[in-house]
Amino acid sequence: MAYDIDMIKKVYSQMGERVNAARQIAGKPLTLSEKILYSHLWDGQPTKEYTRGKDYVDFAPDRIACQDATAQMALLQFMQAGKKNVAVPTTVHCDHLIQAKLGAQFDLPSAKKSSDEVFDFLESVSNKYGIGFWKPGAGIIHQVVLENYAFPGGMMIGTDSHTVNAGGLGMVAIGVGGADAVDVMAGMAWELKFPKLIGVKLTGKLSGWTAPKDVILKVAGILTVKGGTGAIIEYFGEGAESMSATGKGTICNMGAEVGATTSTFGYDESMARYLRATNRADVAEAANAVKEHLTGDAEVYANPEKYFDEVIEINLDELKPHLNGPFTPDLATPISEMGEKARANDWPINVDWGLIGSCTNSSYEDLTRAASIAKQAVDKKVKAKSDFGINPGSEQIRFTAERDGLLQIFEDLDATIFTNACGPCIGQWDRSDRKGEEKNTIVHSFNRNFSKRADGNPNTHAFVGSPEMVAAIAIAGRLDFDPTTDTLLNEDGEYVKLDEPTGLELPPKGFDVEDPGYLAPTEDGSTVEVKVNPESERLQLLEPFEPWDGQNLMGAKLLIKAFGKCTTDHISMAGPWLRFRGHLDNISNNCLIGAVNAFNMKTNFVKNQITGDYDGVPATQRKYKAAGIPTVVVGDHNYGEGSSREHAAMEPRHLGVKVVLVKSFARIHETNLKKQGMLGITFANESDYDLIQEDDTFNFIDLENFAPDKQLTIEVVHADGSKDVIKANHTYNQSQIEWYKEGSALNLIKKQNAA
Ligand code: F3S
Repeated sequence: MAYDIDMIKKVYSQMGERVNAARQIAGKPLTLSEKILYSHLWDGQPTKEYTRGKDYVDFAPDRIACQDATAQMALLQFMQAGKKNVAVPTTVHCDHLIQAKLGAQFDLPSAKKSSDEVFDFLESVSNKYGIGFWKPGAGIIHQVVLENYAFPGGMMIGTDSHTVNAGGLGMVAIGVGGADAVDVMAGMAWELKFPKLIGVKLTGKLSGWTAPKDVILKVAGILTVKGGTGAIIEYFGEGAESMSATGKGTICNMGAEVGATTSTFGYDESMARYLRATNRADVAEAANAVKEHLTGDAEVYANPEKYFDEVIEINLDELKPHLNGPFTPDLATPISEMGEKARANDWPINVDWGLIGSCTNSSYEDLTRAASIAKQAVDKKVKAKSDFGINPGSEQIRFTAERDGLLQIFEDLDATIFTNACGPCIGQWDRSDRKGEEKNTIVHSFNRNFSKRADGNPNTHAFVGSPEMVAAIAIAGRLDFDPTTDTLLNEDGEYVKLDEPTGLELPPKGFDVEDPGYLAPTEDGSTVEVKVNPESERLQLLEPFEPWDGQNLMGAKLLIKAFGKCTTDHISMAGPWLRFRGHLDNISNNCLIGAVNAFNMKTNFVKNQITGDYDGVPATQRKYKAAGIPTVVVGDHNYGEGSSREHAAMEPRHLGVKVVLVKSFARIHETNLKKQGMLGITFANESDYDLIQEDDTFNFIDLENFAPDKQLTIEVVHADGSKDVIKANHTYNQSQIEWYKEGSALNLIKKQNAA
């Protein structure tokens, strides 16, 4: 469980020099975000100023965190690197694969049974390679990270979009795809486009019904779901300092909902309090010693317009409680206007469920504030009209909340206490009261509320609010209930009003836990056997991809010419396929099934040039592979946009596709193809896309001279024997060409390790 105090002290010992160098080079005061970025450069000391939103920069993160769904392929790949241990402190957290249904005492054993092979694999591979393992039931990745590992001024990456939660403790923490995490685990740099900076100045102080959640609900309303793209949001001002560290975590968590790279806050007393309360007084002490580097320069916060790309100001004295939704987290409505808006839009007024918890809002403070409302309902004899579900963020939180009687208060309202896991937040919810597609409303304190997200029902209208507001609305059972003005009828027929919520930032008796659910890796994992059942349909050990034979690639057939948009979701669909994300061969049966065939405008229906028959893309490609025939995928603009899913590059590679030739690539996918040893190239003349026919054969006639900045020549041979000779561009540098030669980046790392 141990956080690495020596690593933290090392980061702090280098910080002053690096920050000063960066300040000097830039010739201006620095924001906190810049200080953290410039003190985590892969090359050490800053030597130049980077242009925000433009320059790609190599960084050296301090930590990595992976959740159980995304960790599977990441760790299977890491095993290919031939390393004894991960290069950077890493943890794995089992939280996504646990379904919420009847409550933790039934749901957890049932999840352990249905996903035991995945949990066993993750446990054994963690043990082998020096990775900390958090068992199912131990908690939600981001809450566990905040309680144990996050530290002011640190940089971490995690294979989950809400990794950004750790900004609550002043980190730059960023969600990445598995391929990026694998690079860093294997000792390579991590590349990021130097982010733009949005400053949010918080004046005043929260009071009454308004919570930290309302700050981010308001920000989401201002920025919308795309407004933070490519930027770090940095919060500052007296209002920021008045909030708890976990409240700051909530705000940073939902920065993901405006598309921000991450969000962060300067180090202050609230963070020191939280570090001490979570048994990390030494981290607080180390941070205090360098605190001037753990917040933005005073001049920056005095004149933010000069130093941020965009500035937003929010007065917390005036901020009203909000509910955001339905179907999108940026549709912000002050609670006082919700009734009118709901009726105008025909949103169901009756609320069926109130859900409290998730990685976003399950701190001690959150639970005490929500419990203060729940207790009033019991005391004032008001029966809750909606069902209540609670998913605590960690076993430490759950144990402490139980000890302090908080859970009992919810249970007095017949709440179901789900496992300390994601549950309904990620659609792992076997909802007892509804099936089918009935229109209904739920309120929750989570972060995302897209259609189907919680229960798979496209007509569930989910609204996001603070835990205390969710409690109040669930008690009233009505979306148009405004606890600041409205009353409730109790069992004695009297009208009663709920008082403002009250809460405690930290448990007065301290946090406590009997079994946190953590397994430390063994000192020497060399004899540990990684557990994968060869019969498994969910997990499969990877075989290294074949190295390039150094020859020109001749006689390659067209597999598909994709028309229009072809995102990573079209290349490797999610949904039910996610079950196979740890089994490359099985998940490859979704390869390109969403891509539109330019010759018939159908999906998953391509011509097999060997037989002349039409079939699905994976089935056709498997036939080419069996016949030893290489293939080419042709695509349009921005091929591979969307998520950074590494499966979209691994699947075609596994099935034997050799080349992806497109008008243009989404950059991350292009890099992923390179990492997997594929040839990802672009038409030198975009219009050559139109020359490609259904029965074409491709000869890459100068691949033997593959070199940086040198075009490749392709003979495109048509069915009638006629030929077009076209040029293709590529962006491989010399080390990426080495990846290609070795068959993948990981093959090269393995070779270097063995040398
Ligand atoms: Fe889990 Fe939902 Fe957070 S899926 S990691 S609780 S956003």
